[in-house]
Order: sequence, then structure tokens, then C-alpha cells
Amino acid sequence: MKHGSLPVAGSLPACPPAPDAMSEAVAYQQFCAFLERASGITLGVGKEYLVKSRLSRVLDELGTERLHDLVRALEANRPANLRLRVIDAMTTNETLWFRDGHPFELLSSRLLPEFEGTGRPVVRIWSAACSSGQEAYSISMAVSEYLAQHPRSALPRVEIVGTDISPSILAQAQQAEYEDFELSRGLSPDRLARFFSEAGKRKRLRDEVRARCSFRELNLLTSYTLLGRFDLVFCRNVLIYFSQETKQDILARIAQQMHPGASLFLGGSEPVHGYADWFELQRYPRGVLYRRR
Ligand SMILES: C[S@@+](CC[C@H](N)C(=O)[O-])C[C@H]1O[C@@H](n2cnc3c(N)ncnc32)[C@H](O)[C@@H]1O
Repeated sequence: MKHGSLPVAGSLPACPPAPDAMSEAVAYQQFCAFLERASGITLGVGKEYLVKSRLSRVLDELGTERLHDLVRALEANRPANLRLRVIDAMTTNETLWFRDGHPFELLSSRLLPEFEGTGRPVVRIWSAACSSGQEAYSISMAVSEYLAQHPRSALPRVEIVGTDISPSILAQAQQAEYEDFELSRGLSPDRLARFFSEAGKRKRLRDEVRARCSFRELNLLTSYTLLGRFDLVFCRNVLIYFSQETKQDILARIAQQMHPGASLFLGGSEPVHGYADWFELQRYPRGVLYRRR
């Protein structure tokens, strides 16, 4: 009998057997457990439709519509890149330029002037879960603007490291070419004219902005020690996908990568409990900043 078909006494079914709803429900739970173990992303109940639509191409290639078959293939890790492709397809890469405004305003008005006095030869900034690069490149544009406005500034060299779990989104970040739709999200006409050049139907970010940024694959569930220490971390709009326990673990480990007094921006909808051991909350009119103790 084909796996998952209902047993029919006496006669062959006239049409293809209905999927075994029970085994699909179990497979959905197993899939959720896999995804949380592998990426931290928690799905919750009733998101089968989301999983199936995001994974429709992967399911097609496996020649099935059933999560049960997908889970078995994930267990066997066959084909070899299946786990990576599934995680890639399940991540939400929504992002925009200068997202939420205030972190970039604080960067220009407070943090960059502070960095002038660090005495270090380089200021290091981490865009954790950087998606297609808009956050890292917005930071770099803010630095370019600051330097243009303060030609005598003693700002050290600025190095921006973008990391993400998704190899395909990182490839887009590295390419630094964007379509009109992406460019229309958060970028003023002035910045568009100043920081981009034509590249066929797309626009390419100028080298001046790109040069400060590098990108690498990193799962926030794994170790960050090889990244080194940072003066400023952006970790925004990613912790929402994780459990409270995972969020706290990630924040504790991010704190270990920050110099004393370094700053952290979280997303607007990501208040975190139990951070007080590592961070002091500083409130500003348009948002908050976490300072490493
Ligand atoms: C909604 S985007 C946020 C992008 C950007 N930080 C912003 O605020 O615009 C979330 C990003 O988190 C990444 N992500 C999800 N789980 C991750 C994990 N375990 N480790 C690293 N990145 C992860 C996704 O690939 C996605 O690019």
C-alpha cells in the first residue's frame, strides 16, 4: 500500500487516496521541531498552508505534496542541500532602507561623534540577520553623509559586517544591485541619486558605500566568537521569530561580542525581558538603545 493512503476493505479505490490527515498533522509537528532546531524559527499551530506554499518548489522536486515525505527526506538529508534550501525558503527576508529611521538618526547624531573618541583604529558594526543588505548599506550611507558633513572628523575607519542564515539572500546583499521596487522602499531621491549608478534595469550601489561592508553566512543559533568584537550591533526584526528562551540566549551571546559601552539596536516590536544583566536601556524621543554594561 502506498504510504499514507487509507486502507480500503475489499476493493481498490476509484480515485487517488486522500492523504492521511493524522500522519500529516504529526509530520507538521516534526517539521516545526526541525525548523526550530535548525534556525530558531518557531511556527506555531495552523501554519501548514504557509509551509506548503513556501516549500511548493521543494515539494514539487521531491515529487510529493505531503509534509510526511518532506520530513523523511530531511531526516535522510537527501538531496544533500535539502536542509539548507528548506531553511532558505522558510525565512522572511522583508527589509527596507533606513528602516524605522531613529537608529540611523541616533547613529549620525550621537554614536558616530562618540566613535571619534574611541582611540581604536577601526569602528566595527554588525548587522545581524542583514537580509539583502539594506540595513548594512544604510549604515554605510549614514557614515558617508557624516563624513561629508564633518570633513575634519577624526572618525576611525568603519567596518560593517552583515550576517544572515540564508545563502541566497546574502548573494543578493553581496551583489549590491537593486530593482526600482526595492529602491522605492525607504530611500530618498537624494540618496538614490548620490549613492547609486545605473546597471541596466537595476541600480548598483557605489563602491564608496560597498567598500565598508562585508557579508558572511551565520546562523544566530551558532557561535559568534570568530566575528570578533563590535562597537555597535543592529539585530532587528529577527528575534520575533524565536522563542523567549532562544532570544535571551542570542542576546547573552551578542553581549559577549560587544565592547563595554557598545550599543545595540533591536526592532521596534522586540522588547526583550531579562536583558538587564548585560545592557542598560537608554530611552530617546523616537526609540530605545541598549548599552553594553
Ligand atoms: C525580516 S529580515 C530582517 C532584516 C533586517 N535586519 C531588517 O530589520 O530589515 C529577517 C532575516 O533574519 C534571517 N534569519 C532568520 N533566522 C536566522 C538565524 N537563525 N540566523 C541568522 N539569520 C536568520 C532571515 O534570513 C532574514 O533575512
